[in-house]
Amino acid sequence: MKIKLQQWAKPLLASALLALLPLASHAADPVKIGFLVKQAEEPWFQDEWKYAEQAAKDKGFTLVKIGIPNGEKMMAAIDNLATQKAQGFVICAPDVKLGAAVARAAKRHDLKVISVDDQLVDGAGKPIAGIPHMGISGYEIGKQVGLGLLEEIKKRGWNLNEVGALRVAFDQLPTGRERTIGAVDALKAAGLPADNVIAAPQAKTDTENAFNAANIAFTKNPKFKHWVAMGMNDEAVLGAVRAGEGRGIRKDELIAIGIGGSQTALNEFTKPAPTAFFGTVLISPKRHGYETAANMYSWITTSQAPPAVTLTSGTLMTRQNQTELRKQMGL
Ligand code: GLA
Repeated sequence: MKIKLQQWAKPLLASALLALLPLASHAADPVKIGFLVKQAEEPWFQDEWKYAEQAAKDKGFTLVKIGIPNGEKMMAAIDNLATQKAQGFVICAPDVKLGAAVARAAKRHDLKVISVDDQLVDGAGKPIAGIPHMGISGYEIGKQVGLGLLEEIKKRGWNLNEVGALRVAFDQLPTGRERTIGAVDALKAAGLPADNVIAAPQAKTDTENAFNAANIAFTKNPKFKHWVAMGMNDEAVLGAVRAGEGRGIRKDELIAIGIGGSQTALNEFTKPAPTAFFGTVLISPKRHGYETAANMYSWITTSQAPPAVTLTSGTLMTRQNQTELRKQMGL
């Protein structure tokens, strides 16, 4: 049956529909995005949060920041986000092997997930399809560390046979391993004997654990005249620098280059007397924080998923170019 609307009824119907419009737009919940990080106390993650906040302000969504130092806290945080009616979250998990658990929890709560920094893997160690990732190009950035060390070794006229290469290692994290292996490969390609590479495994990825690991390695290897040090981030390398100082190995015998360029490195660079912390490969917490959060917002609001993998690059930063370089990168 076809209903013919009377001429007089048309404006009435139109205004009734107009009155309903605000209801319709309120029906969509405001966008809320979680940003979960494994080490909230680390300057890198503080910076990521800061730039994610900037994205929230620019785009007009609510950001929920939660520190997740272990698997239990991580699962509680995801449940909490669901209760708060968030639509998605960005995550750097405390252990990449929790990938399957993250994917399951997200699916159960109908939450979108993007990983940042550390790529989540399944039980077989394969990246989880369906979780877009943004991280650094670990091996390439590690090579930049190695090349930076080599340049300084050359300037000082050191003989590579007499140089010990301290690799503060956290090999259970793939990006951590790639970074330090990249550095070692660059040194070996230039002629550093493989036997001169000393692995110092850290139990946790902070300066204290790196300090302990480096201390043991220095003690066990008194034969080297000079040292270089590398690690997965500035905190790791700083542990080696402090351990060296404790043993009288200072900046004339040790060159250390980190990865990061956040406050940990800046604190070293602004000390009046230079330490063995020679440089760091500056990477971008702005891209990792702002872009992942903004990508999540687009995914939620326009159904446009971000690329499966985005790898970001870095630039060697020293005391000399720190101010200019950070400005160039908008930090
Ligand atoms: C890892 C490290 C952090 C930082 C990021 C950068 O998560 O633990 O310190 O280097 O990678 O992507």
